[in-house]
Amino acid sequence: MFESIADKLYQAKKIVFVTGAGISQESGIPTFRGKDGLWRKYDAMQLATIDAFYENPKLVWEWYEERRKNILAAKPNAGHVTIADLEKFKQVRVLTQNIDGLHQLAGSSQVYELHGSIITIKCTVCDFKEKITGEFSELPPICKCGNILRPDVVWFGEQLPQDVWSGAIMQANSCNVMFVVGTSLAVSPANMLPIYAKQNGATIIEVNPEETPMSKSMDLSIRSTSAKVLPELLSIVSK
Ligand code: APR
Repeated sequence: MFESIADKLYQAKKIVFVTGAGISQESGIPTFRGKDGLWRKYDAMQLATIDAFYENPKLVWEWYEERRKNILAAKPNAGHVTIADLEKFKQVRVLTQNIDGLHQLAGSSQVYELHGSIITIKCTVCDFKEKITGEFSELPPICKCGNILRPDVVWFGEQLPQDVWSGAIMQANSCNVMFVVGTSLAVSPANMLPIYAKQNGATIIEVNPEETPMSKSMDLSIRSTSAKVLPELLSIVSK
């Protein structure tokens, strides 16, 4: 599968993975825009924007609580585990759009959560922020300061956490190889990362059963799923 870029992989010092919902699909977490995707059943503008949240915080919280339960029951798959195992052989950075924490659970130690985390909850007013994996007695949950709490995720129209985003750009600009795995590249600014890597001379490889807008500009675009394909990397880099 990777014969054409095996040398580049073997010689690479730093490998960066840009991942999206597709890498967690084989862990049983639905994607957003795939055939069974969430945005085909729900209206993103009703659930994943700051206006929707203030209009109907209970509805948005019910939706996130349903997703949180599903995510907390999910396990990392062979794709996540391979990326974590690669750290034994290479400098590896994960720039993920996912909020499910499965990369960290698989053992990846350098993960940039571009769109936040469903496990972290924060106050809409004060600086309260905590990882909460239990259930809430009421929705929306209320902070000690009396204001409502929200999931610590980036909604459409919101800025990415500045420190995370600038770190992600630095990684994209300084890697030798970038894998773009399980993302439709439909959402900015995350979809700019492969462009930065390419501009800096990195070899870019896509793993996705479907075509994306960048498939043609990849050095290698593999029409398959991440859990099937990524484990092959270990035999190449561990030679
Ligand atoms: N392995 C690899 N890729 C897969 C798999 C799989 N097993 N299953 C599906 N895919 C691919 C789909 O073909 C699709 O291109 O994963 C991609 C998922 O795309 P999206 O559902 O658009 O998810 P993503 O790219 O992560 O969305 C980006 O949009 O809704 C917002 O904030 C949300 O972070 C999300 C962002």
